[in-house]
Amino acid sequence: MSSAGGQLIKTERHGKAGLIRLDRPEALNALSDALMAELGAALVKFDADPAIGAIVVTGSERAFAAGADIREMKDRRFPDTFRHDFIAAHWDILLGVKKPIIAAVAGFALGGGCELALMCDIVLAADTARFGQPEINLGIIPGAGGTQRLTRAVGKAKAMDMVLSGRMLTAEEAERANLVARVIPAAELLAEAIKLAEHIAALSPVAVAMAKQAVNSAFETTLRAGILYERQLFLSLFGTPDQREGMAAFLEKRTPRFDQG
Ligand code: CAA
Repeated sequence: MSSAGGQLIKTERHGKAGLIRLDRPEALNALSDALMAELGAALVKFDADPAIGAIVVTGSERAFAAGADIREMKDRRFPDTFRHDFIAAHWDILLGVKKPIIAAVAGFALGGGCELALMCDIVLAADTARFGQPEINLGIIPGAGGTQRLTRAVGKAKAMDMVLSGRMLTAEEAERANLVARVIPAAELLAEAIKLAEHIAALSPVAVAMAKQAVNSAFETTLRAGILYERQLFLSLFGTPDQREGMAAFLEKRTPRFDQG
């Protein structure tokens, strides 16, 4: 394990898993522009690094992130908000990351914190996690996907309940609602997330990147177009050494050695 970091995040390497810890405890990891810029830079760096195969984003025991920074947003005014869209500037960078991102969520994941988790590919929740979209209490609405990605994940009934009331969901309720993939005892959360990232990192990088892109396309397009896109990606994988290695290894009853270059 090696580690580095800026002022508001810390990064570590665990084998082929890259770990990013949000580290602004005095504000419960509120997602200021500076923090999001550091997070974006760290994600881009891990994404470009062939020694990393998957990325974990986590917070503290108390908070994954308590939302966008209210102190920073307080004096923002329209139309400046429209001209200098801080979500586009600092959040959309996540959408270009090709490697899988696993959110390991303990404590509060509220507002932008819940939306950040939803922008990740797999959400693992500690049993202490609390998910919510409390923006309505501030006289605003979610602005980083909380009415869109959340609704696609949990459906209209739960999304309306969360977005209109600001009510928090427990980890168990979030799992039942398909907001998270799994609930894990808090003490085991990070180890489990790193284990999952290392497992994915040992697979074929090109197949993993295509799998991520194919699933994400299900939220962007019609079923017919999505099926055709999946088919093209599927067929193109037969041009890779990893397909030959994966299938040969299965038939020879051995562990495949995928091209990690
Ligand atoms: N922005 C800025 N600072 C925040 C913050 C946020 N989103 N959330 C917490 N903090 C700060 C608090 O101001 C406090 O700082 P001080 O000690 O300097 O007063 C510190 O973190 C600790 O917070 P609390 O004292 O409030 O802790 P608590 O345990 O009593 O409550 C909490 C925890 C329920 C998470 C509460 O802090 C809270 O409700 N936070 C705000 C949650 C929220 O409304 N998030 C949505 C933000 S808007 C958004 O995200 C827009 C978008 O869609 C992109």
